[in-house]
Amino acid sequence: MAIQDLQKYRPEIHFAPKENWMNDPNGLVYFEGEYHLFFQYNPNDSVWGPMHWGHAVSKDMITWEELDIALYPDENGTIFSGSAVVDWKNTTGFFPDEPGLVAIFTHHKDGVEGKPQVQTQSLAYSHDKGRSWTKYEGNPVLGHATKVDFRDPKVFWLQDTDKWIMVLATGQTITFYSSPNLIDWQIESEFGDNIGSHDGVWECPDLLQLKVEGSNEEKWVLFVSIGDNPQLDAGSRTQYFIGSFDGSTFKAEHTDIRWLDFGKDNYAGVSFSDVLDGRRIYLGWMSNWRYANEVPTEGWRSQMTLPRELSLREVADKYQVVQKAVKELDSYFSNKEDLEETIVRESETKSYKMTNSYGEIVLNIQRVDATQFGITLKHTEEQSTTLKFDSKEDVLVLDRLKSGPHDFSENFSKEQSLKLEDTTKVQLRLVIDSSSVEVFVNDGAYALTSLIYPDEIGEEFSVFAVDGTVKITDSYVSQPQKNQIT
Ligand code: FRU
Repeated sequence: MAIQDLQKYRPEIHFAPKENWMNDPNGLVYFEGEYHLFFQYNPNDSVWGPMHWGHAVSKDMITWEELDIALYPDENGTIFSGSAVVDWKNTTGFFPDEPGLVAIFTHHKDGVEGKPQVQTQSLAYSHDKGRSWTKYEGNPVLGHATKVDFRDPKVFWLQDTDKWIMVLATGQTITFYSSPNLIDWQIESEFGDNIGSHDGVWECPDLLQLKVEGSNEEKWVLFVSIGDNPQLDAGSRTQYFIGSFDGSTFKAEHTDIRWLDFGKDNYAGVSFSDVLDGRRIYLGWMSNWRYANEVPTEGWRSQMTLPRELSLREVADKYQVVQKAVKELDSYFSNKEDLEETIVRESETKSYKMTNSYGEIVLNIQRVDATQFGITLKHTEEQSTTLKFDSKEDVLVLDRLKSGPHDFSENFSKEQSLKLEDTTKVQLRLVIDSSSVEVFVNDGAYALTSLIYPDEIGEEFSVFAVDGTVKITDSYVSQPQKNQIT
């Protein structure tokens, strides 16, 4: 493989494996000064195959060092998704001397001779900060006689009950288990019948407490990723439920379906365990099962979203999950340029310069009387990505039809959109990397995450207005200094 092939489309501020295939983030945990990112990994090919856990570590969740494979398939099966925790109190007995990491993951066995697949939950532990792992001799620790889809354990310590809680995807429900020691599990309850989207199999759940912005109130939020359904354009995506959890049962406080991201490329995301400063930080797999195996990278496939800090905010009488790129990202942008306050009129596109590198664009746009307005990222003479607000429908649409190659999948070029309450005043933050745009609207109230494959990011973007004018205030572009680009 020529070096430039491996470099093409390679992100600068997102994690991607050096080679071969990656999907879900697994075992996100902070321990002794390092953030750990394990991931679904096929070391033999750049398409999905027998799963291992790949491994990377970081001090800031932006620059990652890829380490050796952490978990290999064994007699119990290949290694599907799961989580990792620090066993501070040696509840397992694995850590008589000092605390260490435990991975809780799904062992997967393909069905043979007409029999269904078998999925069970297992443990592995590490005494050396995740560099080497021992599988627990009593694996698997949790199975099911009849459930065929029984996977993706997310585990956390619940102080109130002094127990570990496991949140598990069980077909089209989530089942909650509890345990004193990660080894013996007891069923608590099942959630999901007659509520939420059932467009596909439920996968990769997470249950976490989020703060309501500007208050001390916290609410429980259950994330559920929904597998691809070929009948639907959206492909695989993540929904969430806000409610309460008493250590045994989760109750949602709403019946409407709430999506975490309005772009196509954020799936199977979960939160970090044991982050010491109490932030709830999440990242997702920046792809979609609909076309993940076909995207035009060579020798490697897939990258993660930026890590995002999560909270709750009341928007138009209902709570929403708010996502903001972690503050660690800011130090990557040492070259900040304020944009002058400007009126943009119909047919007078206003253009700005960029340094043809990753960066962020923050725009505060006031609609005076335009019916449509937006921003075009000009990548090359032929390639561009457009974000357009339509004030009649109050929607934001991202169009990547001209961004770069898209014919690897019919679905990839379809528009991605999100419905807003109002478009008279919007704040837009775009984080742009070699092959992605992450859009955050109104200070993180909405996210739209999208892959793009331009030949280069480009040196220019422009703001446009249709049928009237818009006003740009308090806006800026932040990028690395040219000589800092890695
Ligand atoms: C989600 C998923 C998980 C499974 C893993 C297999 O993307 O299907 O449910 O554990 O991928 O790679």
